[in-house]
Amino acid sequence: CKNLANIYLEIKNLKQKKDSIILSHNYLYPEFHEISDNIGDSLGLSLFVREKQCKRVDFQGVYFMGSNSKIIVGNEKRLFIPDKPEKLGCSLVDSIDISFIKDWKEKHDGVVISYINSDIYTKSLSDYICTSRNADKVIINAIKKFKEKKILVLPDKNLGRIMKARAVDFLKEEGINLNPDLIEVYEQKKAYCHVHEKINLDYILSMIDKHKESDLLIHPECSCSFQLYEIAKEDKELKKKLFIVSTEQMVSSAKKSSAKSFIVGTEKGMVYRLRKEIPEKEFLAIDFAQCEYMKENTLEKLLNSLKNDKYEIFISDTEKTESREDGIYLPRKTAEWAKVAIERMLEIR
Ligand code: 13P
Ligand code: SF4
Repeated sequence: CKNLANIYLEIKNLKQKKDSIILSHNYLYPEFHEISDNIGDSLGLSLFVREKQCKRVDFQGVYFMGSNSKIIVGNEKRLFIPDKPEKLGCSLVDSIDISFIKDWKEKHDGVVISYINSDIYTKSLSDYICTSRNADKVIINAIKKFKEKKILVLPDKNLGRIMKARAVDFLKEEGINLNPDLIEVYEQKKAYCHVHEKINLDYILSMIDKHKESDLLIHPECSCSFQLYEIAKEDKELKKKLFIVSTEQMVSSAKKSSAKSFIVGTEKGMVYRLRKEIPEKEFLAIDFAQCEYMKENTLEKLLNSLKNDKYEIFISDTEKTESREDGIYLPRKTAEWAKVAIERMLEIR
């Protein structure tokens, strides 16, 4: 429609004028595909922002992703999100109990691996950050480096369970018998994503039954992912069609598989990217799996952000994170500590 074409044009002009790159997460509405320099998962977007030369970054996704990117680029690039942080939330970030983590770390002198879906205070207390794409590599790296130390894996608890099981299995293949008690998964508060928790085993088994020819792409945050991993050890048919992967790996897995159809076990926006890049295959979305925070991102908000320079994330000398009229101020010291753990993650791919 004419209005949409005008919005595209205005965004493109402002983007060029302000030397901006637009980064969008895989769950966003399809109109973002036309306008973005990069669409990807949490790891891919973090790597892209680090490499790309520009004056400004317009991050379209949720707040923790934007603040993560700001910590990576520091004051070299200005970084904007399209709305206030509270509109761009994430239930995993809300599930953190920071005083519990401090006590736990102290009690065990443990190694903390936090999921990227966390706030900057949690990241600053962490030894490593991981995403769903590199979680296995990060935990193996930590186990090998810190030997007998306890490893604490922070939310998501469903991802944490899979990381623990895969690490034990992987090391067994290398002839190492890891004591599973050395890995503890945080299960305080809810410790799960409210969207992926609803994708449970009964539902997925009924989908598999209904779509026998389809492969299954499933995000490790789903409440059924650990159970599927365990069931697939005995069930060869399931093992052949099961991909427990990050959103970006859903694209590469679907390209590699010979299947013509896929059940997409994650936020339903993921199917736009899959259908666009692999039009010859069929992708079945889960209709109830919608993240209201991701859906706060619209082209109108992006245009407003480009026009009025809102909402900028700053790294500053404030004591705590402050939300002000002109943007969000992150405390420098905390950001510096968080960056150490983030950079460690970016080196492990
Ligand atoms: P990915 O890193 O796999 O894109 O996951 C991010 C996320 O928030 C999943 O809900
Ligand atoms: Fe957070 Fe879940 Fe939304 Fe991902 S889908 S941003 S984990 S609330």
